[in-house]
Amino acid sequence: MTIWQDLIAKSEAVKSRKIAEMFDNDNRAASFTRDFGPFMLDFSKTNIDAETLGLLVKLAADCNVQARAEAMFTGAKINETEGRAVLHTALRNLDASVVLDGQDVMPEVRATYDRMVAFSRDVREGRFVGQGGAITDVVNIGIGGSDLGPAMATLALAPYHDGPRCHFVSNVDGAHIHDTLKGLNPETTLVIVASKTFTTIETMTNAETAKRWMAEKVAQPAAQFAAVSTAADKTAAFGIAAERVFGFADWVGGRYSMWGPIGLSLMLAIGPEDFADFLHGAAEMDAHFRTTDYAENLPVLLALVGIWHNQFCGYATRAVLPYEQRLSRLPAYLQQLEMESNGKRVSMDGKDLEFHSGPVVWGEPGTNGQHAFYQLIHQGTRVIPCEFMLGAEGHEPDLAHQHMLLMANCLAQSEALMRGRSLAEATEIMRKKGLEGAELERQARHRVFPGSRPSTTLLYPKLTPEVLGGIVALYEHRVFVEGVILGINSFDQWGVELGKELALALSPVLEGQSDGADKDGSTRQLVARIQTLRG
Ligand code: F6P
Repeated sequence: MTIWQDLIAKSEAVKSRKIAEMFDNDNRAASFTRDFGPFMLDFSKTNIDAETLGLLVKLAADCNVQARAEAMFTGAKINETEGRAVLHTALRNLDASVVLDGQDVMPEVRATYDRMVAFSRDVREGRFVGQGGAITDVVNIGIGGSDLGPAMATLALAPYHDGPRCHFVSNVDGAHIHDTLKGLNPETTLVIVASKTFTTIETMTNAETAKRWMAEKVAQPAAQFAAVSTAADKTAAFGIAAERVFGFADWVGGRYSMWGPIGLSLMLAIGPEDFADFLHGAAEMDAHFRTTDYAENLPVLLALVGIWHNQFCGYATRAVLPYEQRLSRLPAYLQQLEMESNGKRVSMDGKDLEFHSGPVVWGEPGTNGQHAFYQLIHQGTRVIPCEFMLGAEGHEPDLAHQHMLLMANCLAQSEALMRGRSLAEATEIMRKKGLEGAELERQARHRVFPGSRPSTTLLYPKLTPEVLGGIVALYEHRVFVEGVILGINSFDQWGVELGKELALALSPVLEGQSDGADKDGSTRQLVARIQTLRG
């Protein structure tokens, strides 16, 4: 029997067990909790017991997770379908030396980082100014990894803002850039065009729109543009002077890129010192991941919990539920990180996967989600593992009573999901309200919670730059470990290509320059109706 089959057998054997009853053994909470740095990861409210954990740890060992991680950290070309190394960790470990193709890549990384710091200071301290005075606003134009990371982190670290206001434009929908630019003064706005490839249609279209907007008021619009890209030739062709171009190498994946120049807008907002703390938090998590035994290793354990739920228990989605309003973009960020990385149907060697790929990831901050979709998590027919995140303190000491309420809600949700409410308990509640007979039974059944709905809780002291860096690195490595166990390439994204190609072909059809005869009936019908509606 392989370890995989052992785990399938185990999941069958324990599937009707009540999680709450596993706490009859008093040590459960401590036995299924691990601490590292500022973090405490409690996975005791899952159906994982000591034997399951042992099997999962053995699975990680059998899949050579540690050796694969070492290959990543040291620059092996583990992104095999693109022939690239995967070295985003080097961006947050600036003192290291990383040799790639016989050359230490770090001097260039450090030089670019130093230029980012100098530019950020110039902008923040008023030495780099717009044509109408000091920069008041920064507009980051990018999409996917060139947007979600800095947008998420800038919002998350709002208490640390002391630089210009930062805005993020991603969608090709003109409404996005229109509404963003509407309130801004072109003379005091800096536009950052963030695109690894500098070819992404959404970003390039929005960048042209921003340039026209700037040109209406400013004599030299390009002078208020900066670029972040791997494609120096293309940034030059766009007209952005080399001194405001911050390059990076192809071994930084888009969704792993906010640690370097793609994080420029974040650095402008919070300043280089806090940005360095953000990197430091991630680097600490890297070191923990790289050197700690599987059974004590937070990213490995979070991955094993994920694999248990998705591959062995058959739970197709997982909800990320930060009780932290400022992490409201984290679920969207993790959607790209997890689903673009592990949403693959073939293994590294091109064979069909024999099991499901990574799960659907979704979520919203608490307590808002409680008043929207938690109903389904508590009483729906499908089981949705939940990942709660909670800071022990907020940044608003005068609103500490609100933070207490927030925390109480978070703890109550994981407790309610696990405990549930039996028919006997629900019946007793309704009997006390005066119901009896058939109506009592009918009403009670609506108030039953099945319970045993698994969750993890990640607890930290406070959402500082360092803690945020640690959270993101934790999830990055979690995704890596899940990818290794599934045997897939977590670092390519071929699945986004087909839609891009077809969109390019459809533009002329919509504009009536091509008849679209090769399109299917539905698409032709939609095109025809759009043309009619537009007159
Ligand atoms: O959606 C595909 C993708 O390539 C992402 O992986 C990437 O983050 C995004 O597009 C943006 O790409 P770029 O930074 O090259 O504009």
